[in-house]
Amino acid sequence: MKLIITKDYEEMSKKAYTEFSSIINKIEEPKIGFATGSTPIGFYKEIVNSYQKNGVSYENLKAYNLDEYIGLNQDNQHRYNYFLNHHIFNKINVKKENIDIILDNNNPILMECDRYSDILSKNPLDVQILGLGANGHVGFNEPGTKFNSKTRVVELNEVTIKDNSRLFSNIDEVPKHAITVGITDILNAKNIILLASGINKSEAVKKMIAGEISELCPASYLQNHNNVTVIIDQEAASKL
Ligand code: GLP
Repeated sequence: MKLIITKDYEEMSKKAYTEFSSIINKIEEPKIGFATGSTPIGFYKEIVNSYQKNGVSYENLKAYNLDEYIGLNQDNQHRYNYFLNHHIFNKINVKKENIDIILDNNNPILMECDRYSDILSKNPLDVQILGLGANGHVGFNEPGTKFNSKTRVVELNEVTIKDNSRLFSNIDEVPKHAITVGITDILNAKNIILLASGINKSEAVKKMIAGEISELCPASYLQNHNNVTVIIDQEAASKL
């Protein structure tokens, strides 16, 4: 793992953009898996700025994502497709036909899991962007997830429901199930950029980087990948 520790969230976001652009600049049609959550928002602003202020074009970019809640209506603003449209896709020149967001269609859920696993194994992403759950999850691969897991339906764990309830008006509104790209599918990406910020991620960061590879911290499976760049701020790094 390549580890970059920054002084704060802003520097983490800028560094993420530098790392990301140095990879995708060399690729004609970069395939990118976008994560959601608060952590990558600053990084996505950097991508938007690069387009709006510096004219960087994303017209050949192919966009995928990592996870989605189950049970929310298509127009619900808590859906991750809404998040990605709002924070990034509507603000850069990515072509609509090049965006393939999980569950953003009428496919039955199980068919959608197989379809996504198939895409990610046959056409590996150039970059998978990841955040990190306070309990060590990546995507919605909760503690207990097996190394060989594929894209599938999962039950969210209590810690995750509680963490994510800050974005809903009350905890009962947080869905109990989600679809997530699996560990095997994540590790198929050619490059992985993981971001983490804040003291509440410090324990998970420590287990991910310095702990044993274990299903208790699914992010630790990333130790098995050759091209992972972990970009974290000082608070997130404070237990290393
Ligand atoms: C969520 C998402 C993850 C995200 C993580 C951290 O549950 N499923 O993809 O990385 O939790 O979120 P945040 O960046 O808001 O802390």
